[in-house]
Amino acid sequence: MKIAVLPGDGIGPEIVAQAVKVLQALRHDGLKIELEYGHIGGAGYDAEGDPLPLATLKIAQQADAILLGAVGGYQYDKLARPLRPEQGLLRIRKELGLFANLRPAILYPELASSSTLRPEVVSGLDIMILRELTGDIYFGQPRGVRILANGERQGFDTMLYSESEIRRIAHVGFKIAMQRAKKNGQGKVCSVDKANVLDTSMLWREVISEVALGYPEVMLSHMYVDNAAMQLVRAPKQFDVIVTGNIFGDILSDEASMLTGSIGMLPSASLDANNKGLYEPCHGSAPDIAGKNIANPLATILSVAMMMRHTFALEDVAQRIENAVRRTLQSGARTADIAETGSEKIGTMEMGDAVVSAL
Ligand code: IPM
Ligand code: MG
Repeated sequence: MKIAVLPGDGIGPEIVAQAVKVLQALRHDGLKIELEYGHIGGAGYDAEGDPLPLATLKIAQQADAILLGAVGGYQYDKLARPLRPEQGLLRIRKELGLFANLRPAILYPELASSSTLRPEVVSGLDIMILRELTGDIYFGQPRGVRILANGERQGFDTMLYSESEIRRIAHVGFKIAMQRAKKNGQGKVCSVDKANVLDTSMLWREVISEVALGYPEVMLSHMYVDNAAMQLVRAPKQFDVIVTGNIFGDILSDEASMLTGSIGMLPSASLDANNKGLYEPCHGSAPDIAGKNIANPLATILSVAMMMRHTFALEDVAQRIENAVRRTLQSGARTADIAETGSEKIGTMEMGDAVVSAL
């Protein structure tokens, strides 16, 4: 198992170090794991003047899976867009064709009281947000800032989706729903768009509906993104799989993360057509708390579980990691983001150690 490790910026190195401890523990159990490190984001810019250095791209291309921390930092805010840390992330997703972004939002019962929503609204929550990751307004051309005839500047971006891009993400969504139906018995896909306003979304809706014909077991519904944002906090358990485009998925997945108590709990997988994947927490680099040993490493550790499941097809190992996280939470271990006010908190490293010993 060749795994590229790209810690990145801010809290990235700290949280990735905990996930690496988990990988090392699995290695003791006989899994043949090889790690190769690379720079990405601001760390790539600092080391080689490029948020995605060629050497890093090579390591990532040669690996079976990639473990990534997070990118971004205040010190890079003034750089031109191509040099910004975020470009490292966007380019690696695009270069490797990682079009399917799985962002599960699962509430661990132990954390029901950490959510800002009432426990009865979120208890038992288990939804999957599937975000298309290599198209949309994130990558559409043309884009830029131009000068109008009257001399003022105008910024513009282009929202684009081709039929084939919509079709391939739709297939992933229906397949995930069928998989999940084995456990939850329902098999529902809710496609989220803005078809009442955007032409891109009208095509999106049409193509998703066509693909749905091949999956008669799965129930398809459509929802406008503004309504979906509202429904996610009103009654999130109505959803099973949400499939949506890049920009809507970016926003809705941050929103969904808070249902689970903390964005520090949410892992993600970004897969290509052959289940090669990049695994990263949904949260960012949190430069304000970097280097303080207070960040929650669980999203990154849970991303390793997703790696075992989706790239290496080791469902039993994935579940062992998830169970270790569950038992760690049951034991009362809490980083600051998920601790109740006044109760005891542990640090990033201590949380990593606790998961390893539970494992
Ligand atoms: C995410 C992040 C990224 C995105 C940024 C850092 C480019 O917000 O992974 O959700 O917008 O995709
Ligand atoms: Mg985001």
